[in-house]
Amino acid sequence: MSTSVEALIKLTLLSAFVSSVCCVNQAVLEYYWRPWTPGSPPSDAITLRDYRGVSYIVEAYVPNHGLHVGQVFANQQEVNVTVANTSVVTNTVFLVRSSTDLKVLCSQSLDKVSWYPTSNANVQNELVTAVINPVLGGVNNFNQAVYIGRVAATTTQRPWLIGSVVKDNRLRYHFGGITTSAAVYEILVVNSNKCLGG
Ligand SMILES: *[C@@H]1O[C@H](CO)[C@@H](O)[C@H](O)[C@H]1NC(C)=O
Ligand SMILES: *[C@@H]1O[C@H](CO)[C@@H](O)[C@H](O)[C@H]1NC(C)=O
Repeated sequence: MSTSVEALIKLTLLSAFVSSVCCVNQAVLEYYWRPWTPGSPPSDAITLRDYRGVSYIVEAYVPNHGLHVGQVFANQQEVNVTVANTSVVTNTVFLVRSSTDLKVLCSQSLDKVSWYPTSNANVQNELVTAVINPVLGGVNNFNQAVYIGRVAATTTQRPWLIGSVVKDNRLRYHFGGITTSAAVYEILVVNSNKCLGG
């Protein structure tokens, strides 16, 4: 990819991050990433709960493939992440073994973010028209923004499964030793309306 296209994409990502938010300082604090510390997760980490316990959203660095989204439990030191890109046929999984390659999503206040229901058919339009202002989960090696998605498994206990979303694509995640995807899911967004009047 040419450096000018790269620069344009980076600029677009940056402006998406601060756009339509009336309070830029607050926007910067809406969420942030801390180093993952297995056994003692940060107290301001964003969590999900299901019958397996509390889980966390991590950004995992995969050499030559960029940053992708995974799910870990408190004591976990390694994670399988599914690499997401605009290819509909690819579902490659990588095991990230080092906690130095993992960062956990944190927020000062959990009402600054929320889960927004969408699908592979709708997400592109919602991004382009700024209907949603998603939390940036990573950037793949094609300089595409990687967002954070979740879906409840169809098994009886309905555990939450977390993975990566790219543009018009399905949510891609890893569960039970396999990598898979979902067409209908929820994407993590910033509640920029919380800034109105503030
Ligand atoms: C998608 O990612 C896979 C795995 O990294 C890679 O082999 C493939 O070339 C990528 N394709 C596109 C179109 O991004
Ligand atoms: C990663 O996936 C492999 C199989 O695909 C599995 O054997 C292994 O236990 C998984 N590791 C984690 C940490 O989920």
